[in-house]
Amino acid sequence: MTALPYGSPAHHSFITNVGLITSTGPHGENVMAAEWTHHISYEPGMIAVCLGPNKATAENILATAEFGVSIASTDQNVIASIAGSKHGKEYDKVAALKELGYQFLPGATIKPPTVEGARLRAECRLIDHRTYGDHIMFVGEVQRAETDESKDPAAYHKGKYWHVGENIPKPPQEEMERIKAVVERYRK
Ligand SMILES: Cc1cc2nc3c(=O)[nH]c(=O)nc-3n(C[C@H](O)[C@H](O)[C@H](O)COP(=O)(O)O)c2cc1C
Repeated sequence: MTALPYGSPAHHSFITNVGLITSTGPHGENVMAAEWTHHISYEPGMIAVCLGPNKATAENILATAEFGVSIASTDQNVIASIAGSKHGKEYDKVAALKELGYQFLPGATIKPPTVEGARLRAECRLIDHRTYGDHIMFVGEVQRAETDESKDPAAYHKGKYWHVGENIPKPPQEEMERIKAVVERYRK
């Protein structure tokens, strides 16, 4: 078994997004950052988040079986840094963020709020959870989702936040045709 520790070259090979995971429960209203936030089913909509078991968020979700997922936009790096560096057992991050001018929107189908200004805000009910290695994967079924297409999602890479860069151009038409012809020769 090989470790891929935080900040190692292996960990730095990944590009992820930043989920702002909101919860309520024994640790009160809370928000944390989770780059391991994935869309895993279209219909029904499902989102998986992988959280360390000692995080306030993990304990809140285990107690209440619901959570919010706000996919951070490019202007939400400060929220992500605060949500991702302080523990909800020690800090009221939601109150601090509100004082800093950020807003949370009340959940319509769940108790936790979502984060105003995020690219995607999804309200999730926990349908499954399972421990993999040193994290718990929580799978939520989306009850309600709203996108703000005026926002771009922030990318997370090498411990920093990024704008998604330029679109990679396709090879020239001649090369595209050669690729297609080669692939077609291997049709089963
Ligand atoms: C950008 C970013 C992404 C993060 N991704 C994850 C993650 O996917 N899973 C995780 O358990 N912790 C992740 N963390 C660390 C948690 O957000 C951090 O431990 C936080 O303090 C936990 O908050 P809580 O104890 O209030 O739940 C991330 C931190 C940052 C800054």
